[in-house]
Amino acid sequence: MSNNGVSALVKAETALLPKVSCRRRDADGTPQADGGTPTSHPTTMKNILVLNGPNLNMLGIREPNIYGKQDYPTLVAFIQDAAAKLGLAVDVRQSNHEGVLVDWIQEALGKFDCIVINPAAYTHTSVAILDALKAVALPAVEVHLSDISAREPFRHISYAGMACRKTFAGHGFDGYRLALEYLTTL
Ligand code: DQA
Repeated sequence: MSNNGVSALVKAETALLPKVSCRRRDADGTPQADGGTPTSHPTTMKNILVLNGPNLNMLGIREPNIYGKQDYPTLVAFIQDAAAKLGLAVDVRQSNHEGVLVDWIQEALGKFDCIVINPAAYTHTSVAILDALKAVALPAVEVHLSDISAREPFRHISYAGMACRKTFAGHGFDGYRLALEYLTTL
């Protein structure tokens, strides 16, 4: 999708967050006790949970001048393709409900290595999603299709972003690929 001249924002890595690696897994899927040591020949795939918040299922219909004309299934296919090219396993989910997103974040513990999240409108309101991300403490990256820093002032605050190592905003669909690519470096 086009960003229509909206400038891109990449938040600097949060200095306060610990630099732990995504946990690697044994062949049976069990996370390695010592967190694993990244190697140039990883024997297991990182397993990434990609969460999308409210109204992202309306992509293609909602405000196409901001979010583009491509629909949600096209976004899911884009993320799956990007993950495959990067050698990552992804589970892409969307919910309009804050509690469902909180449940999925909690359930990620022990099942996923990292989280990519576009909390959509909950970005700017949800302390619950922030707390869930902090609770599981998995490496997390925030994505926004639009550049939230160039929009209304109420979109400039991101609670979820406070628990994320990086934010990619204003890159359209490609922000998800950039987030996944970043996670391969951990
Ligand atoms: C969004 C930006 C949010 O402010 C908005 O509420 C969304 C989508 C984005 O991807 O640009 O629903 O997260």
